[in-house]
This record gives sequence, structure tokens and C-alpha cells, in this order.
Amino acid sequence: MYPTLFAPLNVGSITLKNRMFSSGHDTVMAENGRVGDQLIAYQRARAAGGVGHIVLQVSGVHQTAEYTDSELMATSDDVIPGYRKIAQAIHEYDCHVFAQLFHGGREVMTTPDGLLGVAWAPSAVPNERFHVMPRELPITLIEEIVHGFGLTAARMATAGIDGVEIVASHGYLPSQFINARANIREDIYGGSFENRMRFTREIIEAVREATPDGFVVGLRISLGERDQDGLTPAESMTACQHLAPLVDYLSVTAGSSATYAGSVHIVPPMNYPPGYLADLSSQLRTTVDVPVFLTGRINTPAEAERILSNGKADAVAMTRALICDPLLPQKARTGKTDEIRLCIGCNQACIGHFHMGVPISCIQYPESGRELEFSDLSVAKNPKRILVIGGGPAGLKAAAVSAARGHDVELWESAPRVGGQALLAQLLPGRAEFGAIVTNLLGEATRAGVRISINKTADVNSVAGHNADLVVIATGALPYAPLIETLAGEVNSPVVNSWEVLNGAELPAGEILVADWRGDWIGLGVATLIAQRGHSVTLAVQGWAAGHALQQYVRNEMLADAIRHKVSVRTDLRIRGIAGNTVLLGHTLTGAVIEIPGMSAIVLATGHTSNDSLFDELVGRGANVHLIGDALAPRTAEEAVLDGLRVAAEF
Ligand SMILES: Cc1cc2nc3c(=O)[nH]c(=O)nc-3n(C[C@H](O)[C@H](O)[C@H](O)COP(=O)(O)O)c2cc1C
Ligand code: SF4
Repeated sequence: MYPTLFAPLNVGSITLKNRMFSSGHDTVMAENGRVGDQLIAYQRARAAGGVGHIVLQVSGVHQTAEYTDSELMATSDDVIPGYRKIAQAIHEYDCHVFAQLFHGGREVMTTPDGLLGVAWAPSAVPNERFHVMPRELPITLIEEIVHGFGLTAARMATAGIDGVEIVASHGYLPSQFINARANIREDIYGGSFENRMRFTREIIEAVREATPDGFVVGLRISLGERDQDGLTPAESMTACQHLAPLVDYLSVTAGSSATYAGSVHIVPPMNYPPGYLADLSSQLRTTVDVPVFLTGRINTPAEAERILSNGKADAVAMTRALICDPLLPQKARTGKTDEIRLCIGCNQACIGHFHMGVPISCIQYPESGRELEFSDLSVAKNPKRILVIGGGPAGLKAAAVSAARGHDVELWESAPRVGGQALLAQLLPGRAEFGAIVTNLLGEATRAGVRISINKTADVNSVAGHNADLVVIATGALPYAPLIETLAGEVNSPVVNSWEVLNGAELPAGEILVADWRGDWIGLGVATLIAQRGHSVTLAVQGWAAGHALQQYVRNEMLADAIRHKVSVRTDLRIRGIAGNTVLLGHTLTGAVIEIPGMSAIVLATGHTSNDSLFDELVGRGANVHLIGDALAPRTAEEAVLDGLRVAAEF
């Protein structure tokens, strides 16, 4: 079905078995800066799924190249055995492996001791996102770093890695040298185009010199860093054309770590269409003689095939697609495309975890990144009769995995459709793709043999009548309404909750106040939705910023959307009361009462409360019952799905 995707590709001296790959992504699985068992298990799972090649996450080439406290560092020979082990694990599946050689320059996010580090860059020009003012690199240190790239490449070759990729993308050190706005030096590394290219050229030369003939050398670069001071697409194209004769491939992406707007493109959320950079890679491809690899929200084999067969790229990264479903290549190759668990670009557990400093995973497939914990999800020794109550993400996952393990599973859902809160979440502006989590989980449950009944409300008697060996309660949550004081005798503006708004409740004309407690998708999204319907909206958030709990790139997109719709944001406020059409808010820091008059309605985005009464009743009757998801504690779809997996792995 996908002839171009599964056609081999020659890159330098090697032949890749197909044209999809996992691009370098920091898994936060390094153990003291080294390759460890979890990282090997994670990459082994992707190789086993049939991907053509894997680019390992960034490896620091010099002690000044540490940009987070969880980075792989490859600055001494004693790292070689770890890389050798991972190369062997990946090679077992006829999959090639490259390593990324990295120096972030002024992009320093975190340091091991939590203090501000000393960052080095071509010039003392600051970074917007991490608020770093770097020192200008002296020539001796530039030479040492260039040498570090060569030494690191040699270590990779010794370890049996097939090639290296120099990270000149995303505003990291080589890009800082190329960019005349970040590099204002007046010596041989600054000024003219030739001088600004010198650093990257010297790196490639050092890597070539330090590695055997046939060792693949590629370069990753952003075709446009998408911010005011970043490289423009035209500048990047020129740089690529200059460097192409020196490398075996170019891997193109977009964005820059340096700024809020540019960083969104490092891992573009669902707001960006699949393959949105394909026209740029296509342009580049006509001007260079090496294979061009493309990245950016390519999440289906059909999209990949379209890009490749239209000559827009020679290979495509499907990075989150493979985090979400490592078996994607195998399924595509064997005609099981419908069984692929599609990545929805939510950014929650992959790059979201990276920014939290915890190992990456996937909200839909929490087995990802937990390969060691769930390595033994074998067929159950004593198959049981299991009843799952509730068809939200938690219940669906519990049912799907239990049935896949050989249990006899029935799921009851009280609503006309399964999906729970995910059905509402997909109605928020720009979040439609979130609904695919339901399609994916429902497909998994159905294929595993779960019998699903909708419009079926459970109570103690119906559950007892089912005679299940065990019952899983995944009945979700309901909107939580905090105590709101009202003044006696006043006709107060109506108070509705976000669920009602998403379900289409009419709001009175005029100005609306949205009170947001959790700082997640709901408050920001509902505020934008109401503004889209023609209201003036004030979003009063209880945290320090709108969307403070969101993954940064998702927040940037959602907040920008809210601002474009003229939503006015007030921070550090909790809802206290209403007097007529005046909303009373308490400042969370000073305790001052703030009055906002003239509100025609108040919309609450104040979280949820567990819907767990059935659990209590069943426990009272001595049933073997397990409580998961929001019914256990209202959190997000990620925790719900993980709860479902954990309970299904237990018996
Ligand atoms: C958790 C995570 C960490 C990442 N770290 C790196 C990295 O180490 N080096 C890099 O070049 N890109 C990194 N990226 C960007 C990916 O290589 C890729 O460009 C991005 O995920 C978009 O591709 P996709 O839409 O196929 O997921 C990272 C992405 C994710 C999700
Ligand atoms: S967490 Fe979301 S964006 Fe990340 S891999 Fe999973 S589905 Fe894709």
C-alpha cells in the first residue's frame, strides 16, 4: 500500500530499509548522563516495530554543552559501552542508528544543581525563553568544542553507531554562529556569510577526519526558525546549499529554542496540519544533491507516502507517531493501517514530560517509556470475568488491555457514546484532534474482544447480577462548583459550568467572566470559545498565568488564540461571590477583594469531583472492586489511561 515509504534509501555508504525514521528526541532516560537499560528498551521497541532508522537523542560533545540536567553526555570514552549496547539492540532488527552531536550554546534550560549556569555562544546576545545571557566564546574554546565534535563522533563510530547527525537546528550553537542576529562577532567566525559558516564547516571536517570512511554524517537544520531574530527559510536554504556537498544527508525541521513563538515548532502541537513543512523541504530538495529528511506532524503512513511519492522529501520522521505506536511500520506494511494508534499532537506526555524533567511517554500508550515496567504483559494465567463500568479513557484502556490478556471483559457506559470527558475536550477551539483518543481506544477494546453496552447505567443490583470476578469502576467525574457567596435580595447573573457551555448552553448577551482554577485547557479554551461566539470575555485565573499547567507549546498556541479573540486575562484571582452582575474575586496573594461589575454570566472552569458513589456501595457489599481514573481522583486523560493499564496489568 505504501510503495515509496517502504522503498530502500541509500544514504552515504549505507542503505536504509525504508523511509520512515524516529528523529532525535530527548527521552529523559539517560542514567547519570549515560545510556541505560530503560533507554535501550525504549529504542529496542521502536526498532522491533520496523522503523528504518533511529536517530538517538542529543549527546553533549563538550562539558559546556549541557543544556539540561538529564542530557546524554558523550565527553569521555567510558560512555562507549552504553552506545555499543544500544546500537546492538537496534541492529538486531535490521534498523540503522545515528547519534546526534550537540552543543546548545546559549540554550541552557536546567543545570544539575538547579543554579543558573554559564552559557557560551558566538556573542553575548540573550535568549528570550530561558533568560540566559551567554558569554562570547573565545577562539580557544571554539577550537576545543570543534575538537569535541570530532572526538564524540569517533566514540560513536567505535561503539558501532552507523552515523552522526550534527544538530544545527532549533537555534542551537551551530545555528547561532550562522545567524547574523545571534552572531555579532568581528573575527573569522563572524561578519561575512563565509565566516558565519566556518564553525559548522569545521565541525563537519573534524567529524569526517575522526571517523572511518563510510561513516554517515548528516546535519539537522530548521528551514526557518519562525521568530523575529531566528534564521529565515531563505537563510537556512542558503546554509544548506553551502553545506550539502560536505554531508550525506540534510534533516529539516523548523523553529528555535530561543523564543516562545519559535519553540512551538520544535514539537508542533495539533494546531499545525500534518506535514506542514513539506513545501519547504520540497524546495530544498531541488537544490541539493543529498537526501532530504523531513519532520513535522507526519502521523499516518498515508501522509508519509503522499509526501515521499510527490518528491517532497526522501525520508520522513514520524517521531511522536512512533512514541504513540512503535508498531506503526509493521502495521502499515502488513495492511493493518486501521489498527495504528494515531498520535494526536497533544504534546502532553512526550515533550510535556521532557519539560517536567521526567521520562517521556504517551497519554494514549503509557507503555511507551515504561517498557521495563510493562515488559511482561503476558496472557493472564487465570482468565477472569471482568466488568468495567464507565467508557472514558480509563475504562476503555482497562478493558482493552484486560481483554488482550485473555480475560472475558464487558464494559457498560451510561451515555449514548463512549469517550467520557474526551468527547467534551475535543470541542475546545483547536482541539478537535483530541477526540481521536476515543477512536483509538475504542478500536483497541473492540479488537481485543470487549463487549460494550452503551446507555447502560450500573447500580449495585445490576452489577451483582452480572457475577463478575472483579469490577473496575471508571465512572469519571462531575464538574466541581466552589462555594460562591451571593447577596440576599439581588438578582444575580447566572452561573454555568464549562461542560454546559461546551454542550451548547446559550449565554446571555454581554460580558462573561470565566473563573479558571486548574490553569489547563478548559478555562483558556472555553474563554476563547465564548469570545468566538461574540461575547467580551474576562478570564480570571487562580494561578500566576493563563494556562500555567499546560505543556508550554500548547499553552503558547492556546493563549495566542485567546489573545487574538481579545480575551482579557486577570491572574491570581479566585472566585468568591456575586452581587447582582458584579463578580467578587479574591486576590490569592494579598487577600484583597476585587469587584468586576457588568458581567452577564459567570462560567466556572473550577475542576471536577469524583463520581465514585457506586464504588463505595459495592465495597460495602464486599465486591472485588477497583477504582480508577477520575473516579479515583480527577486528573487528566493521561493519568486515567495509565490507571487503566495498571489495573489491567495486575490480574
Ligand atoms: C520529547 C521530545 C524530545 C525532543 N528532543 C529532541 C532532540 O533531542 N533533538 C532534536 O533534534 N529534536 C528533538 N525533538 C524534536 C523531534 O526530533 C521532532 O522534530 C518533533 O517531535 C516533531 O516531529 P513529529 O511531529 O514527527 O513528532 C524532541 C521531540 C520530543 C517529542
Ligand atoms: S502524548 Fe500526545 S503528542 Fe505525545 S506521542 Fe502521545 S499522542 Fe502524540
